[in-house]
Amino acid sequence: MNKTAKLELDGKQYSLPTLVGTEGEKAIDISALRTQTGYITLDDGYGNTGSCLSNITFIDGERGILRYRGIPIEELAEKATSVETAFLIIYGHLPTRAELRRFSDLLTENQYLHEDMTFHFQGFPSGAHPMAMLSAMINAASCFDEGLMHWQFGARNEFEVYAARLISQVRTIAAFSHRKSRGLPLIYPKKAYKYTANFLHMLFSMPYEDYELKPEVVHALDLIFLLHADHEQNCSTATVRMVGSSQANLFASAAAGVCALWGPLHGGANQAVIEMLQEIHSTGDDGSKFINAAKDKNSGKRLMGFGHRVYKNYDPRAKIIKKACDNLLKVLNHNDPLLEIAKKLEESALHDSYFIERKLYPNVDFYSGIIMRAIGIPVEMFPVIFAIGRMPGWIANYKEIMEDPKGRIYRPRQVYEGPTEKHFVPIEERK
Ligand code: CMC
Repeated sequence: MNKTAKLELDGKQYSLPTLVGTEGEKAIDISALRTQTGYITLDDGYGNTGSCLSNITFIDGERGILRYRGIPIEELAEKATSVETAFLIIYGHLPTRAELRRFSDLLTENQYLHEDMTFHFQGFPSGAHPMAMLSAMINAASCFDEGLMHWQFGARNEFEVYAARLISQVRTIAAFSHRKSRGLPLIYPKKAYKYTANFLHMLFSMPYEDYELKPEVVHALDLIFLLHADHEQNCSTATVRMVGSSQANLFASAAAGVCALWGPLHGGANQAVIEMLQEIHSTGDDGSKFINAAKDKNSGKRLMGFGHRVYKNYDPRAKIIKKACDNLLKVLNHNDPLLEIAKKLEESALHDSYFIERKLYPNVDFYSGIIMRAIGIPVEMFPVIFAIGRMPGWIANYKEIMEDPKGRIYRPRQVYEGPTEKHFVPIEERK
């Protein structure tokens, strides 16, 4: 029997139902608050607002726990591929061999873009940011399938095809965006390659000269995709759900997610981390000046790759990535001075009272950029890599929205603070 919360307002008492999630997360259900009391809640930045019930991802930010569909991220990182994990996230269970075969086949069948889309790429100026191209081209891809435009969510077969198409095409679009932004010829996917190897091939091969696929590099990038696959109600996923709640199609909702992800406080942080490390390196700072600036609210600087809305402990993804980063650099025999700076920064911040008091720890983006640099991926592609990785999470959240029998459009309220009623003044009387 769940407890009720008592609320006393304007001399009246109200009972609000509470609910407890499967991991003991507690919530007060305020769905009927405004109808009953005339009040709404105000929660700047949604820090205390549960916007949905979800079965996909569990995070305990205090204890540094992350699980996809119940399975700890550490186990998946060690034992699964990003494709297997994508299936798990979208369909709620680990795939059988037959399910994985079908899912992989669907990814392969749907990896080509309509050839006319290459004309859209030509329309972008060279140097266009690949995130802008990614978002625009995901939307454009939906126009090449009339079925998708008129598709009513429901038929499982169609959903499976559209979900696979989005996961597969986002990778092709991402690679083409990179090639276009560098003025390089487009390289098409190869049927024989698996998901991540194919992406590296499209990024780095040249006509008649295939990129040499090193298993360690493929594995490191695949791990980055896996670790980014979902992260419950973050800014971009909440955006996808918001757009999907209006019954916009899957591709339109995902394109909106890309835009939300772009900012430096979210998916753009991996790029911002490298830029910060480069700045520290080029100025000869050992990191201490930058740490001081990051603590000074007037400097406009933050220690990028540090802090998280939910994690008040070491981000479990950061632990996995840090280890992978050390391993890859060793295998590639790659000495990156930025890795040394990053480690020093981490060490100093973890012993600094400013960061300790605010519970600011490295997040997933702190070391992922160094791995991507070692692979040769340019910084402007870092948020794009995040977007490819996050696609299964967005799709799973979109599916959840569409399968919700209540299916209400997302529509928050506000507390208005603007002027009270005033009247139109003709232009000649205005001062
Ligand atoms: N460097 C310096 N101070 C910080 C930092 C940081 N990276 N992050 C938070 N703070 C301070 C902040 O100034 C505030 O101090 P005070 O209480 O004195 O005003 C306090 O810590 C709480 O910060 P907040 O901004 O209220 O925290 P938030 O939950 O709104 O923001 C965040 C979370 C991730 C946007 C923020 O920590 C940040 O800007 N970090 C750097 C950017 C970054 O690495 N983003 C990637 C997040 S992980 C990938 C993803 O899922 O998007």
